[in-house]
Formats: sequence, structure tokens, C-alpha cells
Amino acid sequence: MFTIDQLDLPVVGAPMAGGPSTPELAAAVTNAGGLGFLAAGNTSAGALKHALERTRALTDGPFGVNIFVPDHANEAADLPDPRLRTAAVQAFRQQLAPEVAALGMELPAPDAEADDYWAAKLDLLRNAGVAVVSFTFGLPSASVVSSLHLSGSTVAVTVTDQLEAVSAVNNGADLLCVQGPLAGGHRSTHSLIRIPGDTALPELVRDVRAAVGVPLIAAGGISGPHDVVELLDAGADAVQIGTLLLRCPESGAAQAHKDALADPSFTDTTVTRAFSGRWARGLTNTFIRKHTAHAPAAYPEVNQLTKPLRVAASNAKDPQSMGLWAGPQFALATESPAADVVRGLFER
Ligand SMILES: Cc1cc2nc3c(=O)[nH]c(=O)nc-3n(C[C@H](O)[C@H](O)[C@H](O)COP(=O)(O)O)c2cc1C
Repeated sequence: MFTIDQLDLPVVGAPMAGGPSTPELAAAVTNAGGLGFLAAGNTSAGALKHALERTRALTDGPFGVNIFVPDHANEAADLPDPRLRTAAVQAFRQQLAPEVAALGMELPAPDAEADDYWAAKLDLLRNAGVAVVSFTFGLPSASVVSSLHLSGSTVAVTVTDQLEAVSAVNNGADLLCVQGPLAGGHRSTHSLIRIPGDTALPELVRDVRAAVGVPLIAAGGISGPHDVVELLDAGADAVQIGTLLLRCPESGAAQAHKDALADPSFTDTTVTRAFSGRWARGLTNTFIRKHTAHAPAAYPEVNQLTKPLRVAASNAKDPQSMGLWAGPQFALATESPAADVVRGLFER
């Protein structure tokens, strides 16, 4: 089975759903000596199968696949009262209605039960023999973890605090991705309703290191070699980068997203529930300013409701209504090939 110490360089290319994580990006990170990742959140099993085949054609090395844990499969789910949840989603729907109507589109009916093809993707991964399967947004059961062990996959779980880390290891996780408060994109709290912690990543790594024995991958806000040294010193076995890879030629991020990262009129990032109903960090834009205050804790419903707006904005290359996921170090993302970004983390 894959272990993190097999890597030439202790770096993981973050799974980034919604386009950025192409087979080309995953393979480029792996071929540079790190661990590339496919992002299979918000993807069908068929699309994942295709991405696996394409990645295998591009690299003989190890890579991972990341999937989202839906509420029904999350052993640490901590959900809002269903009636309050439905009412809050309806209120948010009303807030969005004028914007969607102005674009000549209709708001979809929210479906709290949608589980992102969980069973089909797990079935595929149980037979795929990928080096690493990682989980985000929740705690997979011990039986799910052990079924992936049977096919030879190492299992990783993304955690944001010590308690989540201990629960994941108790359920059989071989590897933890410890995600800190500066991470670009979604925070992977196992609870839907909890406000994510703000413990700085090096301290969080030390906290988790003190509680569990498995290897740790530190993620969130990494901007260069000094962060790598600090996190490895704190007890991490590898680091994970997302934002720094977004503008690479291998990244499939929307062009408007790539352009916004280099646009000086975007000056900061905000953690918001406005786009998906889960906390996530992105470039501060008009949509975030308008909707953060009233967006409910309701994933996947909010994600479903905002999708027409996000897709229309991306097609129109309008960054003000897109989810421009990124960490605060976004201005350091360059158009360099991913291999150069990976190697650059170890240049001093
Ligand atoms: C555009 C984008 C999409 C992301 N999508 C995922 C995802 O699908 N699964 C996941 O586990 N993490 C996802 N993340 C979070 C990353 O795994 C990682 O925690 C984060 O990128 C690290 O912080 P950094 O962006 O500051 O390097 C995403 C991050 C970004 C920026």
C-alpha cells in the first residue's frame, strides 16, 4: 500500500473540484515527485472513470482520488433541525430569485438528499486500486474505510481539529489531511453547522500530531518554502497546495477564475457559506458581499440553488458572481507549469 514516505518530494497537489483538478494537473504533480489528486466531488462515477483512465495514461506514479461524504454516510454529521433547514433554504431561494430571473433562468428545486453519486463512486473506487482515496466533508464509516483497504488503497480523511482527527483514525484512516483556517476552497469540518476553528496551521498540526500516530498532510495557506519547513518541523509528513496550482497551464480552473487571481482589483478573500451552504474561502466579490450574511448552513441545497448563477457567470466571464475559491496567498499563484511550482517549494 502507498505510504507518504514513498514520495520523492513531500507535497500533495490538492484535489480541487469544479474544474481545476484535471488528469493533466494530477499527473504533473505526481511526475514531479509529489502526489497528484483527482477531485471527484460533484462528479459522476462515469466522469471519474474517464478521469482515472486519462490520468493513468499520463503517469505510472501514485495519485489519489477525493470524494465528498454526504450526510447519510457521515458518522460525524451534525445537522440543523430539518424544518428550520428547509425554511432557511426557502428564504435564501427568495433572496436569489430576482438575480436568477434577471438572467432569464429558473431556480432549481433544492434536494437535501442528493448524495453526489456516493455509492456508484465508492463501487468504482473499490475496484480501481488507486494509491489513495481521500474523503472530505465528513467521517466515513469503518466499513467504508476497510472496503477500500481490501482493494489496496490507502485511505485519507480531511480533518480540521483534533477530535475529527481521532475519530478518523479510530475508523481506520491511514493518513490525515489536516486543513487549517487559511485554506482556499471549502473547509472540511465534519459538522455542517459548526463554525470552523481558527487555530493557525502549524499549531493545529502540533495538536493533531500529539493525538494520533498516522502521517499528516498539512494544508491551507502554503505560500512557499518557509511554510514547508515550518509545517514539517511542526510534525507534518507532507504539505498540500491548492491555490498555488490554480493558474498552472495544467489546471482546468475557469479562465475567469485564473484571471481574477492575477487581477489587482481583487484584494482579499472571505470565508462564506453564500455559494454552497458550507464554509469556503474565495476572492471577495459582489456575490459574497451580498449574500454571506443570510446564507444558511445547508449543503448541498445552497450549492444547487447557486449553480445556475455560477454557471452563467462563468460562461459570461463575470467574476463577480463566481465562486473564486482561493487562499489569501492567491497573488503568488503563477502560470508556471505545476512541476515548477512543486519543485519551487523546496528551493531555498
Ligand atoms: C478551487 C479549490 C477547490 C477545492 N476543492 C477541494 C475538493 O474538491 N476536495 C478537497 O478535499 N479540498 C478541496 N479544496 C481544498 C484543498 O484541498 C486544500 O485544503 C486547500 O487548497 C489548501 O489551501 P491553499 O489553497 O491555501 O493551498 C479546494 C481548494 C480550492 C482552492
